[in-house]
Amino acid sequence: MKGNDNVLNIAVFVSGSGTNLQAIIDHIADGRLPDVRISGVLASREGVYALERAHLAGIPSVVISRSRYPDLDTYDQAMLQALDVLTQEPVGLVVLAGFLSLLGPRLVRRYAGRIINVHPALIPSFCGPGMYGIKPHEAAIARGVRVSGATVHIVDEVYDAGPIILQKAVEVYQDDTPQTLQLRVMKEAEQVILPEAIRLFAEKRIAIDGRIVRIREESQ
Ligand code: GRF
Repeated sequence: MKGNDNVLNIAVFVSGSGTNLQAIIDHIADGRLPDVRISGVLASREGVYALERAHLAGIPSVVISRSRYPDLDTYDQAMLQALDVLTQEPVGLVVLAGFLSLLGPRLVRRYAGRIINVHPALIPSFCGPGMYGIKPHEAAIARGVRVSGATVHIVDEVYDAGPIILQKAVEVYQDDTPQTLQLRVMKEAEQVILPEAIRLFAEKRIAIDGRIVRIREESQ
């Protein structure tokens, strides 16, 4: 049994149904993410099903509603305080899993290089402000692309523009609707590469070289 110091404690930020959170929970439960522990779940909205998933998995959670704060600065401070209270151990990685609010500069700086986000398209396609939820899939169908997919990237202060860690493509079928494409991207791409990216961090195999992520063969 590895000592506690080898465990990567992660905080997962959510805003919706939590299917990506569930994929992480399941990967930990069935041993595919051995040295990872979810210290806490932070939601940007009340009543989202992701909170129920956290409860069922016995994971502490807190809601910090963006709408309750007058500006990004106070929201930023509230998020940092909530994170400190929510998790007993130091958080090694912040995972945005279907999280829809912009993070404040303090939190991004405090966790520089240790915040990742899953985006439901192949960045730089169909990303940036306003491109969330079903919208990237509507844009992909409208553009007639033959492949779409998901991207896991480092979060910095520019929305969806951080260095790319992993991407996974899925085929776009002629009869796809935005909804059928979204389901395939979630199941066959997002829920595969997000746990994989977390594993790479746990194995200390991620190195950020400017705008490029280098994935080392061996754990450091
Ligand atoms: C996912 O496609 C996620 O990328 C997007 O919303 C969808 C559902 O996310 N932001 P989840 O079920 O809340 O993880």
